Amino acid sequence: MRTPYRITVIGTGYLGITHAACMAKLGHEVLGLDIDEEKIQQLNNGNLPIYEAGLEEILRDGLAAGNLRFTTSFQKAAEFGDIHFLCLGTPQVKDGWAADTSQLDSAVEALAPHVGQDCLVVGKSTVPVGTAERLAGKLTELAPRGTTVDLAWNPEFLREGFAVEDTLSPDRIVIGVRTEAAEKTLRALYAPLGDIPLVVTDFATAELVKVAANSFLATKISYINAMAEICEAAHADVTALARALSYDDRIGRRFLSPGIGFGGGCLPKDIRAFMARAEELGAGRALAFLREVDAINQRRRARAVDLARELVGGSLKNRTVAVLGAAFKPESDDIRDSPALAIAHAIHLEGGRASVYDPAALDNARKAFPELDYASSALEAARGAHVALLLTEWSDFTELDPEQLGLVVADRNIVDGRNVLDPAAWQAAAWNYRAPGRP
Ligand code: UGA
Repeated sequence: MRTPYRITVIGTGYLGITHAACMAKLGHEVLGLDIDEEKIQQLNNGNLPIYEAGLEEILRDGLAAGNLRFTTSFQKAAEFGDIHFLCLGTPQVKDGWAADTSQLDSAVEALAPHVGQDCLVVGKSTVPVGTAERLAGKLTELAPRGTTVDLAWNPEFLREGFAVEDTLSPDRIVIGVRTEAAEKTLRALYAPLGDIPLVVTDFATAELVKVAANSFLATKISYINAMAEICEAAHADVTALARALSYDDRIGRRFLSPGIGFGGGCLPKDIRAFMARAEELGAGRALAFLREVDAINQRRRARAVDLARELVGGSLKNRTVAVLGAAFKPESDDIRDSPALAIAHAIHLEGGRASVYDPAALDNARKAFPELDYASSALEAARGAHVALLLTEWSDFTELDPEQLGLVVADRNIVDGRNVLDPAAWQAAAWNYRAPGRP
């Protein structure tokens, strides 16, 4: 294969755009593909359709240098690429817990018949174990006679908000391969990233590494949130408990922040898809604990609503609630399965008026939850509120001045859903402060 590699990136979501732009930054010739024409036009104009720090600049650099372009044509992609990355979404199916892999199937079906030369297809999407094996068969079946289309599985571990950093300096690279040629190509492709631990496995193990990692992270968050439930029952403080645990290196500090739990397009659906796949494999018992991880996580959302209701005297009906945060986490505009919006929606269903503000996710939130009220700043959201809820820990919110916020609200009641405020400072300014897992 010629270097720099000619790479296509199929699917331009958070993962695909980041991967395409970063591969161009490494000097490769990159063609990104999506079936969404409007998005492709936007990308070709150098406009990033998502909020991700540092990414737009890399996108524009690639476009300006001429080694990054975007298309909607599978034929062009197939003729262009020596390596085709599959970065398609695998959302939860509508009627169950499994992952819907149809976007991957469609992409392979559209690509394979047009490939003009021997090439390597590399899956990056999070998939049920067994998908790679199935897609490898499909590629062989659909590729033109005489053309060899090899497959590798190379799961992606990037976090939204740190997507560029995680792509250019990953903790590890995992590649599931069947041929030495595929391993050699991927080693060479990622060599410019430096000395990154690289684990070479079979397809199934590579697929499992990703869901195992996300399940572990989800379990860690639900573990500390379960401790929050116990602390609530025992009048103890989960933030002090978490801090004390974190000094043990074996436990560590990260992903041990108690609050309203995890959301996003990955952790919630990945643990469910993992359970569904384990059932199919006859190994459902092994992941039974993930049901509890999911249930604890859902209860944290309900608990935040309980705290708000308690603070306003037992009923949210006709109460104004300032909802600070809509994104599933800060530094992102992603609202998929966002705990903040789930809580705002629950308040709305109880007859409360949820006034939502978020520094980046307002447009997305408005489209998904048109029934909620939206404000143009934290202070606007809080104007006349009977209770304020901090649900996404943007620095705009963690740095709020209790005195200043106190001047606009109707009542000084606050729920610190992420345990990020200093209770003493808020209490000193005459706020009733409540937080999950704290007395
Ligand atoms: C997650 C994984 O962290 C990535 O490694 C993985 O590549 C990605 O999913 C994916 O599968 O694509 P991401 O969804 O961007 O990344 O978000 P995280 O940073 O993992 O946060 C997930 C949720 O957990 C957020 O709602 C966050 O607020 C919450 N969280 C996180 C807590 O409630 N407590 C914590 O201590 C940490």
